[in-house]
Amino acid sequence: MTQHLSSTQSIPEVTAIPRHVAIIVDGNGRWASKRMMPRVVGHSEGLGAVRKIVQECRRIGVEYLTVFAFSSENWRRPPEEVGFLMKLFLKSLKGEVSRLAENDICLRLIGDLSRFDGAIQEMVEFSEKRTAGCKALTFTIAANYGGRWDILQAMQRCLAVSPNLKPEDVNEDLLQPHLSMAYAPEPDLFIRTGGEQRISNFLLWQLAYTELYFTDVLWPDFDEAELHKAFDWFSQRERRFGRTSAQLASPALSDAV
Ligand code: IPE
Ligand code: IPE
Ligand code: MG
Repeated sequence: MTQHLSSTQSIPEVTAIPRHVAIIVDGNGRWASKRMMPRVVGHSEGLGAVRKIVQECRRIGVEYLTVFAFSSENWRRPPEEVGFLMKLFLKSLKGEVSRLAENDICLRLIGDLSRFDGAIQEMVEFSEKRTAGCKALTFTIAANYGGRWDILQAMQRCLAVSPNLKPEDVNEDLLQPHLSMAYAPEPDLFIRTGGEQRISNFLLWQLAYTELYFTDVLWPDFDEAELHKAFDWFSQRERRFGRTSAQLASPALSDAV
């Protein structure tokens, strides 16, 4: 497995197109309610937007796209809505996996999948295997995912492999390989649609130095043009990773770590 260094340990390469984009796809329910339709219609529409954004990321050379589809807190929603989301999840996996493979897109799931029913778990396993050799884009779906869960499960796995771990031995390098996204660099750009400016327990560890972009656009309306707006905004950020602007202007001033 490729190991990626942490942004707090070393300065990542800064690229014009973000290597890793992480999105909280929010606003499906409000999109539907505004049209006097049941909330779940918004989820179906939202799936169309996911499809568009996956293809666009693939086209322009984003290497990793991660979408928060269902949080560990979303089980608190009404059972009918949760049930609909589960059906949609299964249906979309079945419907999309061949197209992903044909487009050289590798699908991965992060989150505690044990709470999903057997059919979903089997389909996830099948989809991951079917696209495992694909290289152009890694598309990760976070499902029953929570950032705190991720850090805790990583710590548990550390202790499982090294039961005699001493407090002074605990460091980032030890934990990082056990985090669910150890296969990817940390996100360069985070996008949240739907107007809220919060992280909602998404990738808490991995977002340490990510540029955060918030838009009022509701997810089903988020299209290629909106993605490019986010990229334009991203390209104007000065990613300092703790250094000063003067150091960025003349690298000779920094003893890069
Ligand atoms: C995001 O849209 C999709 C999921 C959480 C599955 P919402 O369903 O949260 O839509 P709003 O925020 O209620 O409009
Ligand atoms: C966050 O959306 C999680 C997903 C998009 C899956 P929510 O709409 O559930 O977030 P909060 O609870 O309003 O912050
Ligand atoms: Mg929401």
